[in-house]
Amino acid sequence: MQDKLYGGRFEAGQDQYFEKFSESLHFDKLLIEADLTGSKAFARALESVGILTAEERQTIVAAFDAIAAECSAPNYFDGATDEDVHSFVIRKLKEKAGPVADKIHTGRSRNEQVSLDTRLWLRTTIEATVDATKALMAALLDLAQANPHAVIPGYTHLRRAQAVLWPHYLLAYFEMFARDVERLRQAHARTNVLPLGSGALAGSAFPFDRPAIAKDLGFAAITRNSMDVSADRDFALDYMHAANLVMLHLSRLSEDWILYSSEEFGWLDLSDGVTSGSSLMPQKKNPDSLELIRGKCGRVFGAYSALFLTMKGLPLTYNRDMQEDKEQLFDAAEQTISCLRMTTIVARNVTLKPEIPEQAAAESWVVATDIAETLSRAGLPFHQSHKLAGRLVLHGIKSGKLPGEFTAEELKAFDPNFTPDFVDLLKDPRKGMATRVVPGGTSPTSVATALKEALTRLETL
Ligand code: ARG
Repeated sequence: MQDKLYGGRFEAGQDQYFEKFSESLHFDKLLIEADLTGSKAFARALESVGILTAEERQTIVAAFDAIAAECSAPNYFDGATDEDVHSFVIRKLKEKAGPVADKIHTGRSRNEQVSLDTRLWLRTTIEATVDATKALMAALLDLAQANPHAVIPGYTHLRRAQAVLWPHYLLAYFEMFARDVERLRQAHARTNVLPLGSGALAGSAFPFDRPAIAKDLGFAAITRNSMDVSADRDFALDYMHAANLVMLHLSRLSEDWILYSSEEFGWLDLSDGVTSGSSLMPQKKNPDSLELIRGKCGRVFGAYSALFLTMKGLPLTYNRDMQEDKEQLFDAAEQTISCLRMTTIVARNVTLKPEIPEQAAAESWVVATDIAETLSRAGLPFHQSHKLAGRLVLHGIKSGKLPGEFTAEELKAFDPNFTPDFVDLLKDPRKGMATRVVPGGTSPTSVATALKEALTRLETL
């Protein structure tokens, strides 16, 4: 059993089972670098309020630096029985700096320290999540540029709906991930606020220059209420919400590509590098990479809901329940970043076979809306156009005729509103597609502009 950061008030030691039950070192050791960074800044703050001499501060900071230099060794925490990473660091400080270490916790509480460390760790983690998201966006744009003119059927209800360009489809995901980057940045802004100086809950009794500490640690602002600091995990939930939307988008992308690479669709080829086989069925080539990403979306949501529910009934301010935040937050971040990286690798290992989706579009009635809209451009009220186009679809289905097989005469005989130009409109889904020239539409000109814009947006994102 290690010395605790408290003890005077207790006559007996802790029950061994409770001691083990309550320790968090085995997971909050991930915060050690943040703890050292925050503690060094706190030592400087203690010097500025006259608690440490310059020499004492130097001794303490040098000891923290020495711990930082050794703490990434693989077995560094082996055998440690400290209650948490904060207690561990103070024990190490005592070993290295001697009795002066006893001054380091003056006017500081672990309640604010845990908030500070988590915020420092999360700032870097959010940046890593943003970088991983941007790398995926770049891979999606490369995929779009590899087949800039390919046509696929777009789906609603998983039924062929209207023809779209392949880059238009990929740019839909680009937009989702662009919003994710925005949300991650918002989470970063709420995280990037200095809690130090809040004490346990009531504010420190030492006259710290909190804005100066914020500057020292690169925080954009200081928190405004000490009770809020001890009680708050909103910043962790904000990040987890943003991470969950990333995962939601990755999961839907995975589902799409699992379908599109199946024998039933056959559009996408997934390379051997991101697929697995079956131990029994020799012919199988399974999209396990994408399935795992889809699966982990559930896990990351579980982490979010676990922390949310942990927080929801807590009385102000700090309660030990809040120690449960870290495993959820750490796992959510690790899974999200690794899924982003995995999806980027899949995106670089996928090949579109453009003739297959193009044929799927041509063989179906994805042109039906174009027919109705062309009739309306010629003056027929839309409800009548819709009905007429629907009747032609039904006729085609019943007579086993594909849209591309109708001659001008047959169309005219079916209804005099069908002028000869409808033959091409039915034959080639690209014709109708070209009319969707609004910004955000799937016409080749709109998509080319959107793709160009996306490339420059990504550079400045
Ligand atoms: N290890 C704790 C946590 O992660 C911080 C310690 C604060 N503990 C306390 N009893 N005030 O939340």
